[in-house]
Parts: sequence; structure tokens; C-alpha cells
Amino acid sequence: METIQEQVITLPRIGDKAPIFKAVTTQGDINFPEDYKGEWVILFSHPADFTPVCTSEFITFAHLESKFEKANCKLIGLSIDGLYSHIAWLRTIKEKIEFKGMKNEEIKFPLIEDITMSIAKKYGMIQPGESKTQAVRAVFFIDPKGIIRALIYYPLSLGRNFDEIYRALIAMQTSDKFSVATPADWNPGDDVIFPPAGSCGVAEERMTNNDELTCEDWFFCTKKLDKDTILRDILKN
Ligand code: BEZ
Repeated sequence: METIQEQVITLPRIGDKAPIFKAVTTQGDINFPEDYKGEWVILFSHPADFTPVCTSEFITFAHLESKFEKANCKLIGLSIDGLYSHIAWLRTIKEKIEFKGMKNEEIKFPLIEDITMSIAKKYGMIQPGESKTQAVRAVFFIDPKGIIRALIYYPLSLGRNFDEIYRALIAMQTSDKFSVATPADWNPGDDVIFPPAGSCGVAEERMTNNDELTCEDWFFCTKKLDKDTILRDILKN
């Protein structure tokens, strides 16, 4: 009789400490999260080097790297490939590949080699229903204290939306800085959500006597937050 062994897949969750690891990368060895204290990190995985969707994503990430850097956010990539494959692929991207008008893009952020899958497994990047040998397209947003703040997973066939990745980063930084939440489809300059009233008195006050807020009802109040204020307080010069 065949024994079916259940494979347990661990997925780190929002609010968890980001699993620690040491890694060999295209930019030298890294010790995570120790080397990134005080910075946001987007740690992302891709299925394989020398594949077209991944190539389009790397060109886009390279093109946007300085924009993420201005938001105090470092990028780190990972796949189940070796270092020499990574180096060869990144060289090919820089020398030969154009995507949507972006060309000669140099990938300056670290790309982790993870042939043993040890890091990919810690981060739930191997999802056997999709592939047993390739990482799915995972995106982990890790804050300056090393806490996982958001995660997005995409299947192998679906290239990521970089506007959304940047929007989510800026929205979380805005929430931290201004103690507000951000509504559906928020972008800097849109009204933000004021935290819900925690008592009947505050609810009444909100509805009757507050010039700063616009309240649809006691539990749904928004306020203006100027785009320039956000960008001045969040982005590096
Ligand atoms: C790609 O990046 O093109 C890709 C990788 C794995 C499966 C399907 C597509």
C-alpha cells in the first residue's frame, strides 16, 4: 500500500517577523533582515531565469528601482536557479532585451540563488499545485522593523502589476506616518480614511462638530491629505 505523505506548506503571514536567512546573490552575500534594518524591502520570487514573463518583470523592476529607492525601499529577487544562470540572464537582459521601450536595463539589486529551495520554502514561494520546482510570483512587503506587512501571490503565467506594488508601498507608508487608512483604489492626493469612532461620544462629535472630516456616517469619515505633504514626508530628496 502506498503511503501518501501530506506536505505541509508554510506561508508567513501579515504581522509575522520575516524569516531570517543568509544568501548568495548577484550582488554578494546578504544576511536578511539584519543588513536591511531601517529600510523597507520588497522580496520577490520568480519562476525561472531566461523565461519571457520574468524577463519583462525584471526589466520593469530595474527601470523602477530608483523610484523604490526614493521611498526607502530595497528590492531583492529570488529564484530556484544558480548564480551563474542569474549572471548570464541579467547580462542578456542588459545587452539584448527591450520591453515597452525599456532597454539596456541593468539589474543592480540582489538576485538570490536558491537551488536548495531553502529560502523559497520558508516564504511559501513553492506552491506544488502550481509547480514543484519553480517558485510562484510572490511579493513580500517587509517594513523597517523586519515585519511582513503585505504579501501578494501570482501564478506563473501572470506578470505582476508594478503600479499596484508601488501604490501598496506608498499607501502603507502613508498609514504609518499619518495614522490613517486608505480606501479602495487610493492614490496619493485622494482622501484618506480617519480611524473609526471608538465610543458613542466620539461618533456624535464626528457627525456634528468636525470641520476637518467629511463623514458619510459616524463610522465612515474621510479627510483631505495633500499629495505634496505625503510625498515630502515619505520620499527621500
Ligand atoms: C515566464 O516567465 O515566461 C514563465 C515562467 C514559468 C512558467 C510560465 C511562464
